[in-house]
Amino acid sequence: MIDLSINFAGIKAPNPFWLASAPPTNSGYQIMKAFEAGWGGAVWKTLGVPVINVSSRYGSVDYRNTRMMGFNNIELITDRPLADNLREIEEVKKYFPDHAVIASLMVESRKEWEQIIKDVENAGADGIELNFGCPHGMCERGMGSAVGQEPEVLKTIVGWVKEAANIPVITKLSPNISHIIDPGLAAVQGGTDSISLINTIKSIVGIDLDSYAPYPIVDGKGSNGGYCGPAVKPIAMHMLKDLAQHPEISKVPISGIGGIETWRDVVEFILLGATSVQVCTAVMHYGFGIVREMEAGLRQFMEEKGYNTIYDFTGKALPNVTEWKHLNLKYKVVAEINPDTCIGCDLCYISCDDGAHQAISLPNDPINRIPSIIEENCVGCNLCSLVCPVENCITMVKRDDGTEHLTWNERTLNDDVPTTFDDDRAGGKGHFVPKPTDALKNNN
Ligand SMILES: Cc1cc2nc3c(=O)[nH]c(=O)nc-3n(C[C@H](O)[C@H](O)[C@H](O)COP(=O)(O)O)c2cc1C
Ligand code: SF4
Ligand code: SF4
Repeated sequence: MIDLSINFAGIKAPNPFWLASAPPTNSGYQIMKAFEAGWGGAVWKTLGVPVINVSSRYGSVDYRNTRMMGFNNIELITDRPLADNLREIEEVKKYFPDHAVIASLMVESRKEWEQIIKDVENAGADGIELNFGCPHGMCERGMGSAVGQEPEVLKTIVGWVKEAANIPVITKLSPNISHIIDPGLAAVQGGTDSISLINTIKSIVGIDLDSYAPYPIVDGKGSNGGYCGPAVKPIAMHMLKDLAQHPEISKVPISGIGGIETWRDVVEFILLGATSVQVCTAVMHYGFGIVREMEAGLRQFMEEKGYNTIYDFTGKALPNVTEWKHLNLKYKVVAEINPDTCIGCDLCYISCDDGAHQAISLPNDPINRIPSIIEENCVGCNLCSLVCPVENCITMVKRDDGTEHLTWNERTLNDDVPTTFDDDRAGGKGHFVPKPTDALKNNN
């Protein structure tokens, strides 16, 4: 019997699908509608110091036929009155006592933190999320990512909050930092009950070629915005992995955020150590209804794998994410083309010849356009299989017999690594490359 319910640092929810603090959680109306649709929790649009927003606010990276592959905003925290938000939190909790309602907060002084924590606790919030991530506007006022980028300040504020709070605290981290372990560790040392990440990434999504202003344009000018949506998922997963593998940080639960749109994204975040996920851009794009596909897909995955709860597979991918030096240098794959499905587009030939290792040849026959792999030149880089427009037409097939296993680390320990630039033990020594002048012949 599959049970999707979670207990996230003491915050209970019927499932791990939460809305991230953002426009979809701006009001009680939206959150009730989302809970009706199937979401298990919501982090309220950040409450805090009074703000005034600009228009326009959003920009997008459209890639070919895909709208909003990346999304960017220069919106601030909520501009609705605190009293309205508190009243609506209370109302939502009345209708949905078993769903998670988390109040995202961002204020400045210790006194303000203490006051607003009391307010949201009185309103019935199940937890508090500290917004140390907003990378525009609020950071210019010393809040948001300005705190997320200063581990010592972050630790101090988490300490204040923990002293004042009676409900669980989630510290939301900024990805605008080179070493995510630093703020992650600071949050844990400050006493946080859990962590969420990522908030948005500082970005400029484009420049208008007439006004020369960055998008989104506000009266002829723009500012850096916060980037999110499908494009940021790989960055979010990498940071999640860093935290989830850390012995001290991994003692607290982590809520994964960044580019989540499908059940598969959800499973990947859980496999990397998240025990709840938060979604913003995908809901802004497609609406609350996407949770139905997420839940159905997650259930089917768990059924197929024999998992009963989220915790049965949390972090299962982590042992397989290692440092490069521990990878098996003896493992060998090469590309293989299926001539039955190949449409003769030549893309693999072009990308291998210009962008990889000149390991694909074209037949000298105007009718047969099916390329072939020159196996001794193929380094197994994957490029041709990634560019091929026909699914599974190029596959990577294993060529070693699995008996040998040797890593760079082991070679280093055995004192068997190349030490000079022309050392015979270097990897590419003797590998075929065409003569430079062959390029002239091929371009004619
Ligand atoms: C328009 C917009 C407004 C946002 N406002 C907030 C906010 O008030 N507080 C906060 O913590 N994060 C805010 N975020 C960040 C999201 O909660 C989330 O961390 C980020 O968008 C990454 O998730 P996604 O890729 O699913 O959008 C906002 C994001 C967007 C797009
Ligand atoms: S795997 Fe890389 S080297 Fe091998 S054929 Fe494909 S692109 Fe060329
Ligand atoms: S890219 Fe794929 S379809 Fe195109 S020629 Fe190569 S193998 Fe055939």
